[in-house]
Amino acid sequence: MAVDHRRFLTDLHKLREFGASGVGKGVVRPAYSDADIAARQWLAVRMAEAGLTPQFDPVGNLFGLASGRSLLMGSHSDSQPEGGWLDGALGVIAALEIARSSDRPISVVSFQDEEGRFGVTTGSAVWSGGLPLEKADVLTDGAGVTFCQARSTMADLSQSFVDPSQFSGFVEMHIEQGLSLDATREQIGVVTDIVGIRDMSITYEGQQNHAGTTPMHLRRDAFQALSVFNTRLNERFRNVVTPQTVWTIGRVELHPNASSIVPGRVRFSMQWRDSDADRLVRMEEIIRATAQEIADELGMALDYGPMLGLEPVAMDLTLRGALENGAEQVAQGKWRRMPSGALHDATNVSRLMPVAMLFVPSINGISHDFAEDTAETDLIAGLEVLDRAMRSLSS
Ligand code: GLV
Ligand code: MN
Ligand code: MN
Repeated sequence: MAVDHRRFLTDLHKLREFGASGVGKGVVRPAYSDADIAARQWLAVRMAEAGLTPQFDPVGNLFGLASGRSLLMGSHSDSQPEGGWLDGALGVIAALEIARSSDRPISVVSFQDEEGRFGVTTGSAVWSGGLPLEKADVLTDGAGVTFCQARSTMADLSQSFVDPSQFSGFVEMHIEQGLSLDATREQIGVVTDIVGIRDMSITYEGQQNHAGTTPMHLRRDAFQALSVFNTRLNERFRNVVTPQTVWTIGRVELHPNASSIVPGRVRFSMQWRDSDADRLVRMEEIIRATAQEIADELGMALDYGPMLGLEPVAMDLTLRGALENGAEQVAQGKWRRMPSGALHDATNVSRLMPVAMLFVPSINGISHDFAEDTAETDLIAGLEVLDRAMRSLSS
């Protein structure tokens, strides 16, 4: 049976209705929100209609299982707090369409909390054994809710995890979330490897005080500590990083966040990514040394949250070769091999089985934003590449 483009696009738009933001095609569907849970329940019904057996595991990963040994395909259906309609969703709905049309058994998965409300790709990290459940359970989101509390809001969770030995490999389709393909008007990227990441929170505690009466030289101002830290870190990284290395302070909680109070505490996220595991280690050393130096200079107490991370991983050559053959058939002269600068569940799944990934372009390279989008012709090209690749693997 051929893949059905209309059915695929209809389901993709239907999934977007869960948590539709009202701005462009954006969605607000963070892990374990009402919209996320409703979307997963809808997906479970679609899986059953496709002849798969839906199963939620103890953390809310949703599998649609084919009988016997199968190839696993999918991605995630949770979103960033302000997310696009395709990040994750595309890979799940494409997998569903391949499962419906393929002659070989295909299972489908939507991993939970890929977007890191609690950790880094939390659902697949737990399933793959990279993050023990006891350690995941004590992770908190920005509001102090624990992973354990959040996952217990989902009904119908099974007590057991899905046995990975029934899967021969994992293929994840995704939007690129960068500019490379869009800039060159190419349609398909076949991923060679996924960068590694480190992520932790840092807290400076100084002295909260009156903003009118506290002389500048007596202040222990947590915002000033963060400001100096950021500037000094950027200078120190200069000798260590490459143009591909990235680092981000994306969340800052300043306490008490009032204009007439010298802030006494700041807790902020510190994340860095690179394809070289040694460079990730070197960057951590610089972060810790710089943070300590500033704490000493400005009279701050310094504390770190749990360090989360994933190592860089290479894609499996057989699965990757099948995607390359598919790309050559569907988009001759308009595809390339490329690394992934974004993280994906495939990194975790690579602990258990061979994995490969396929990208389609992101318009203007925008993602993790309501404006995220991809041309319909490119979405369909990606689905066709997946279909050809699956057919070549089964023959
Ligand atoms: C996943 O969304 C990432 O942060 O790369
Ligand atoms: Mn994603
Ligand atoms: Mn994402």
